[in-house]
Amino acid sequence: MLILGIETSLDETAAAVVKDTRILSNVLSSQVELHRKYGGVVPIIAQRAHRERIDAVITEALKNASMDLRNIDALAVTIGPGQALALEVGLEKAKTIAAEYRKPLVAVSHMEGHLLSAFAENSQGHNPGGAKVAAVKFPLLGFLISGGHTELILVNNIGSYQILGQTLDDAAGEAFDKVGRMLGFGYPGGPVVEEMAKQGDERAFNLPLAMSRRTDLNFSYSGLKTAVMYQVRELKKADQLSKKSICNMAASFQRVMALSLVKRLEMAIKKTTPHGLLLGGGVASNLYVRQAVRKVLRQNKLPLFIPYDKRLFTDNAGMIAVAGSFKARRGEFVKDLHKLDRQPNLTIDQPIRA
Ligand code: KG4
Ligand code: ZN
Repeated sequence: MLILGIETSLDETAAAVVKDTRILSNVLSSQVELHRKYGGVVPIIAQRAHRERIDAVITEALKNASMDLRNIDALAVTIGPGQALALEVGLEKAKTIAAEYRKPLVAVSHMEGHLLSAFAENSQGHNPGGAKVAAVKFPLLGFLISGGHTELILVNNIGSYQILGQTLDDAAGEAFDKVGRMLGFGYPGGPVVEEMAKQGDERAFNLPLAMSRRTDLNFSYSGLKTAVMYQVRELKKADQLSKKSICNMAASFQRVMALSLVKRLEMAIKKTTPHGLLLGGGVASNLYVRQAVRKVLRQNKLPLFIPYDKRLFTDNAGMIAVAGSFKARRGEFVKDLHKLDRQPNLTIDQPIRA
């Protein structure tokens, strides 16, 4: 099945064409520059930029795949979670095309997109490091670490999910971004923290491991974040916030963040005895975090499944089209286009109202 995927849940205007799980094209227009001066995504600015860019992005995705709208079998669009104003743009566009060209539409959860991104294949059907539908055994564990979410998910099957644990305050990426801001980096700070950490000593600062005594699978980063804030404030007061101490703080934070993530991951593996791990979300593009995760999987003799291309960790429409292709194969099409609305607070274990 040939599917056109559309994603506008936050600040990336994105469209992709897939043939089942093979990505034929994946186009993205990033708004990072527009939001940078505000230190985060401004919904109304995101909405306007999505409106200005969506047609060109879709046209390019179709062109790169040598398709036009008449060849497409179905559309897949992100319906949530995300910013309501941003989601609306992609959803309206998908509904308009579906009505005009009489194509069926599937509504996709952004989080299911991240979760299933390890199943994506390139146009030749290859996905080194990824998962193959015919080969995986369930249950799998899913670990999503993004700017908006930190979630451990029991994947009973594709389409059947149970949230085992999630963040009680900030998401992992959000904590990276906030610490980045404290250290004087622009938005988004996550990738800069990783770069600076490479030049730092990860044992230089003593930071608390969040919720180290709790036995549930939830996450919390407010304590860690506050500890960084106080120590940075002290350094500033003493006029010691040098490049070296910034790199040391980035490295120390990253170490404790990775530790807290893999601690819960180890607990989840013990609890659920899965057959492997699906890893997704922007923070998973952090090599230090990924190596920590890989070590745990190796110790437990379990396979780690990640997207074949690093760009599939962060927001993109390819992952939405791939998740959509599984739903389309199950015949889960939207019944009434008029009633379909965005669901900004959708969770991965909830049925989509469509
Ligand atoms: O999955 P994603 O693209 O968007 C959401 O759905 O949120 O994740 C974006 C988040 C941002 O917070 C960004 O700072 C973080 O992922 N991120 C990173 C890295 N690359 C992206 N955090 C740490 N290290 C990175 N290399
Ligand atoms: Zn995302």
